[in-house]
Amino acid sequence: MSARVGLRQVTKRFGAFAAVSDVSLEINAGEFLTLLGPSGCGKTTLLRLIAGFEQPTAGSVWLGENDVTHLPPYRRPVNQVFQSYALFPHLDVAGNVGFGLRMQGIAAAETRRRVEEAITLVSLTGLESRRPHQLSGGQRQRVALARALVCQPQVLLLDEPLSALDAKLRLQMQLELKRLQRQLGLTFVFVTHDQEEALTMSDRIAIVNQGRIEQLGTPHEVYHQPATAFAASFVGETNLLPGEPVGRDGTALRVRLEGGLEITVPAERWPAGASRALVLIRPEKVHVSPRPPEVPGSFEALIEEEIFKGATDHLVLATRAGTRFRAVVANESAHGDILHAGDTVHCNLHADDVVVLPA
Ligand SMILES: Nc1ncnc2c1ncn2[C@@H]1O[C@H](COP(=O)(O)OP(=O)(O)OP(=O)(O)O)[C@@H](O)[C@H]1O
Ligand SMILES: [Mg+2]
Repeated sequence: MSARVGLRQVTKRFGAFAAVSDVSLEINAGEFLTLLGPSGCGKTTLLRLIAGFEQPTAGSVWLGENDVTHLPPYRRPVNQVFQSYALFPHLDVAGNVGFGLRMQGIAAAETRRRVEEAITLVSLTGLESRRPHQLSGGQRQRVALARALVCQPQVLLLDEPLSALDAKLRLQMQLELKRLQRQLGLTFVFVTHDQEEALTMSDRIAIVNQGRIEQLGTPHEVYHQPATAFAASFVGETNLLPGEPVGRDGTALRVRLEGGLEITVPAERWPAGASRALVLIRPEKVHVSPRPPEVPGSFEALIEEEIFKGATDHLVLATRAGTRFRAVVANESAHGDILHAGDTVHCNLHADDVVVLPA
């Protein structure tokens, strides 16, 4: 069974410092929700408020239909996986996984059955008698997960559970965690400061900045329609350039960007009456070609820097007038057009790919 989680106008102060400021967030039962934000923004504090390890200074915490603001952690149907795993070094895998059940006084036979089930669920069968120091990082991570799942929580809180893993194992565990969450239908509140991880795993992402939620949305929404400059630059690479309107052709607004480049933006996206705004262009939306494309509105730019990243090339470009921006192009073929620093290329943008934010 999974439960809804509600934070209603929650503030948490430590002395005069507000680690969480007036946060309201409703998490659906069975949802995979990620708290994404930089170090110190309040992610762990939010998890601790849900788990009951912290009491809010103001506001209330809800699980399902119940106000749990004043319930101690052990009375909440919530479990947590910590960043450090916090496994007991003197207990083997089965002992670690079954620890919570034994503490609850559950009969030995049922404990054995549920431990076995949890160990199977996280693919650790055969390793029951190993101690934590005899396991790899990924295996330890699975033990921590099994230990949390065996207590059958309605909500699982995960605080950067994958940060100790190398890149490849991390990707594998991301997919496994996601599969497990779907299979169990549990509510997951997942913390990370890795935007790619958040995009890969989440049903919705809450972007947290200085104790507040800047934006709440699906991975597509936060990526394609960021609500603030912070959200835009935290999720993915981006070009953020100040611009001002210089003319209008029907529904298209001509906008001059910092440095002089003029581009076209759908007029309805411009904040009403604003003489300046921030124009956001994702680097992969800049189309780059060594030859002039057969579409109007293309412009020339010089490649100032080229960074080879295997599947993609990352370019720093500048127009002759002096607008600098980044582009990412796919390396489709080793025999195709190879771009180098110093080359002049032709760029174009679709007006629909341009996002505008109030300055
Ligand atoms: N018990 C405490 N007393 C005083 N300040 C605290 C306490 N716990 C957290 N803070 C402060 O609250 C802010 C948010 O801390 P929190 O641990 O929630 O950040 P975080 O987003 O989890 O960061 P990280 O990504 O580094 O883990 C920080 O500035 C931190 O120093
Ligand atoms: Mg933290």
